[in-house]
Amino acid sequence: MATATVDLLPETYVELSAPELAERIAGAKAQLGSRLVILGHHYQRDEVVKFADYRGDSLRLSQLAASRQEAEYIVFCGVHFMAESADILSGEQQIVILPDLHAGCSMADMANLEQVEVCWETLQAVNSGKIVPVTYINSTAAIKAFVGRNGGAVCTSSNARKIMQWALARGEKALFLPDEHLGRNTGYRLGIPLAKMAVWNPQEENGGLTDDAIRDARVYLWKGHCSVHQRFRPEHVERVRKACPGIRVIAHPECSWEVCELADEVGSTEYILKRIVEAPPASAWAVGTEIHMIRRLAKEHPDRLVVSLDDCVCMCSTMYRISPQHLCWTLESLLSGQVVNRVSVDPETKRWALDALNRMLEIK
Ligand code: 13P
Ligand code: SF4
Repeated sequence: MATATVDLLPETYVELSAPELAERIAGAKAQLGSRLVILGHHYQRDEVVKFADYRGDSLRLSQLAASRQEAEYIVFCGVHFMAESADILSGEQQIVILPDLHAGCSMADMANLEQVEVCWETLQAVNSGKIVPVTYINSTAAIKAFVGRNGGAVCTSSNARKIMQWALARGEKALFLPDEHLGRNTGYRLGIPLAKMAVWNPQEENGGLTDDAIRDARVYLWKGHCSVHQRFRPEHVERVRKACPGIRVIAHPECSWEVCELADEVGSTEYILKRIVEAPPASAWAVGTEIHMIRRLAKEHPDRLVVSLDDCVCMCSTMYRISPQHLCWTLESLLSGQVVNRVSVDPETKRWALDALNRMLEIK
């Protein structure tokens, strides 16, 4: 588990104006120089992500955390599971900081270790063949460690296909945690029929499945989801196509299977970014992902139409918790010799979670 001493933002930072904050963040960053690396996820707001040394999706940011061993401090502008992964993958001497420890991920919280152990024991008792666990990186370090201990691997939305293929080549069946939608979208595109993917509901006895249903399934999908991406509905795809004929719909694989089936393209945040950056001028895109990323893409590419798949603002409120105030305070604290909001995974959890993360990074 990660240590959870939450340091709260001092009042003095609350009143600072946007220009003051920008100036102070830039000043502190310059003074910290090569001792510091700032990683920023695509969903971060502009006022924060503009200070990131590197931006990326979960895969790119975890690779960066593993390779930037020279920096003393890694300040992660993202959510808790990302900072935990950075702590697991970074060097012993490095310190990982999440500017606001309340920046969690509701999906990651949908699978806890006790529930997963009950599921695992039941699946093992009913099945005779080997099951390989796979966890989406959007999970706690404890779940990653469980997967590592049981011979499985982590995946991200960029490499889920490759990792699920690997798991199904190593065992007869796979258990996919904790995102039902990413698991189903990936399995389906690998040719596994929907009927062969059973949803394990941790709130129900026996996961809500009969023993026959457990025996019959090839992939078990944990009943978890992203509340941001789950808001995109098939009718949004139909509506945007009617309103703007010829528009290309691109969805993140955390969206439901129905939405992904209707979309023209499905991919991670890095994939979405690349497609729009490389798109011809005057092309039109309806994007099913978090609103800050969509708005930034629209602003940076005014010659293309980039809109949200849905008009209601699909915002990740926990990503939004990383404010310029928190970033400024974090950096200025480091300058004064104080580390605030460190994320540190205990050695036993780290050891097994590292196995699962390294397997992901090694699978070609
Ligand atoms: P990406 O790896 O595609 O950036 O996804 C992370 C995430 O949390 C999406 O909700
Ligand atoms: Fe978690 Fe969804 Fe936010 Fe991604 S968008 S960090 S999955 S709550």
